[in-house]
Amino acid sequence: MSDEKIQLMVCTGATCTMKGSRDILNQISKLSAEKRDAIDLDTQRCFARCEASDGLWCPCVRVNDEWLIEAQWDDVRSALNKLLDD
Ligand code: FES
Repeated sequence: MSDEKIQLMVCTGATCTMKGSRDILNQISKLSAEKRDAIDLDTQRCFARCEASDGLWCPCVRVNDEWLIEAQWDDVRSALNKLLDD
């Protein structure tokens, strides 16, 4: 596992929340302390990606420089696990 923290940003705007970003945040809170320590979690109320996609890209999550669109927990978990294993 790298010493550098994973930058994880989850949108908590209305459309992303309606489409599941709260579930993602809930799942993150259930990660082991070791994994949570490796993640720098931040939230933002709307990245304006909902407007750009008419809501199709929501929920929007960014993991380091990678945007996950229509992000579900499995997508976020896979992206995190890939980085945590490095
Ligand atoms: S509500 Fe998430 S990008 Fe706008």
